[in-house]
Amino acid sequence: MVTGIPGVGKTTVLNELQNLAKENRFNLQVLNFGTVMNEIMRDLGRDLHRDDMRQQSIETQKKAQELAASEIVNRSARGTTIVDTHMFIRTASGLWAGLPQNVLQRLSPRLLVLVEADPEQIAARRKSDTDRKREQALAEDIMFDLEWSRATAASSAVVSGAPVKVIRNDAGRQKQAALELFQTIRNVMEGQG
Ligand code: AP5
Repeated sequence: MVTGIPGVGKTTVLNELQNLAKENRFNLQVLNFGTVMNEIMRDLGRDLHRDDMRQQSIETQKKAQELAASEIVNRSARGTTIVDTHMFIRTASGLWAGLPQNVLQRLSPRLLVLVEADPEQIAARRKSDTDRKREQALAEDIMFDLEWSRATAASSAVVSGAPVKVIRNDAGRQKQAALELFQTIRNVMEGQG
């Protein structure tokens, strides 16, 4: 599971990871939890922009989350499946776990990854993404979200038994972040880590 708060650049790092996997003939697929959840919400009669899902009631999101976890298990191919997701979601009702116990049990991850960057960088990246409806936030608020992600990752580690790896995605260093992630995944999959 690869997680990170909005604007940290996890999808950018995962695109680089896919390039690395191809170059090294390493069998890897990336599934985006939000995309699968968005398809499920559409099937449930809610055709929403992906950034509007978190404004739905918790009951609606919970149902779609659980169905998305099952669908991800169905779509997991042979080799390594990476799930691009979030430790928590800022909903209208409060901070809500992206990987509660039922989801972790279904997905049974072997590795939990937190992608992190400096709060000022994250704020700037959010501002530059004009095609997304991202919440703009001050660096102090982003720091809180990074800390909450770590706290949630600690709980997920206890529930799943999987290790937590922190990967820095510093400015202009997405390739280095992807390489570190690739090496960690290989170690875990090959039983060395
Ligand atoms: P999702 O689409 O995953 O939301 P997101 O966090 O906004 O994800 P992105 O992939 O768009 O952002 P990113 O941080 O990866 O940044 P990016 O690579 O684009 O999820 C959508 C929704 O799905 C959620 O809000 C939630 O409702 C739902 N959801 C998902 N998982 C769920 C779960 N488990 N349970 C319930 N609901 C769930 O990069 C941002 C910008 O930074 C870009 O402009 C990029 O070029 C730039 N950048 C990136 N890296 C660098 C770098 N190293 N240097 C300079 N610039 C960089």
